[in-house]
Amino acid sequence: HLTPQMEAKNSVIGRENCRAKGGNPGFKVAILGAAGGIGQSLSLLMKMNPLVSLLHLYDVVNAPGVTADVSHMDTGAVVRGFLGAKQLEDALTGMDLVIIPAGIPRKPGMTRDDLFKINAGIVKTLCEGVAKCCPNAIVNLISNPVNSTVPIAAEVFKKAGTYDPKKLLGVTTLDVARANTFAEVLGLDPREVDVPVVGGHAGVTILPLLSQVKPPSSFTPQEIEYLTNRIQNGGTEVVEAKAGAGSATLSMAYAAAKFADACLRGLRGDANVVECSFVASQVTELAFFATKVRLGRTGAEEVYQLGPLNEYERIGLEKAKDELAGSIQKGVEFIRK
Ligand code: NAI
Repeated sequence: HLTPQMEAKNSVIGRENCRAKGGNPGFKVAILGAAGGIGQSLSLLMKMNPLVSLLHLYDVVNAPGVTADVSHMDTGAVVRGFLGAKQLEDALTGMDLVIIPAGIPRKPGMTRDDLFKINAGIVKTLCEGVAKCCPNAIVNLISNPVNSTVPIAAEVFKKAGTYDPKKLLGVTTLDVARANTFAEVLGLDPREVDVPVVGGHAGVTILPLLSQVKPPSSFTPQEIEYLTNRIQNGGTEVVEAKAGAGSATLSMAYAAAKFADACLRGLRGDANVVECSFVASQVTELAFFATKVRLGRTGAEEVYQLGPLNEYERIGLEKAKDELAGSIQKGVEFIRK
């Protein structure tokens, strides 16, 4: 005889199977840090994504509460919660996509690099879990400093023998969303705008290529200066406005959900899914760099070149590379030493 708990579990599995048979590929997605500022809104948005059949919500605090709450939404995905290190492996087993917004956010006056001390260790532990329990999953890394946490994750996966550069993606989508939005002040509709943002995800490493904006538009030097500064400091703008209560969470959850959806559409086999992301790259001499990538069944299947840059962007690129080199090195050394 089944206990009520076992019956409940079986019905969940049944629903998953149905969905898979119904033609929805039913991807399994885990969010690590699901009870945080980004994590909660992101859990809500992923519960609404029709490509998700199973949503695992993991955190070291309050995961059951967020899970109970989100699970009452009458959308298709089945939600399960996992609390604390002992449940990390169960949270990760069988996942197709793992999204990581775990770790502390900035307070006014802090740089993203100030978060390294705490977040490096968190990302290391979580990625060890990924290597062990779902080595083929695509990883979307949100925890800052992204310029260092992505190299950390790569080193963890190399050590475990599971590293596939196509599957490790640093999330820089918010920089693109900001760039598209801020172009609004020039009379453009953000939904129609596409500004490639390359380099990395901190200060001067965030390099908007306004010369490549679509639809093609020409900006005055003042407009370029204004937009570049505002895009590079968009995160700090939010940190200061929140005055100690954290950094961007709502716009970030939106951006993370948009990027995760693109990854899932790629996994499904959709054509021409292109987003910017901080990935292993041969576009510059640096081991990691953000550019547009094409997402497919195996992750970032194509990493696009930078395209033509103007003089202003070439100077910006050199500054970005200088800072990025140090951040990448710092991440690599954290694991190697
Ligand atoms: P938060 O503090 O509100 O939430 C973080 C969550 O991570 C908390 O629920 C905490 O319990 C959890 N956590 C801590 N250690 C953990 C562990 N070992 N395993 C699982 N969960 C753990 O922070 P918020 O605002 O959600 O930001 C999260 C991270 O995202 C920060 O590092 C922040 O800098 C970064 N971020 C990245 C952006 C990007 O564009 N890539 C933009 C905005 C923030």
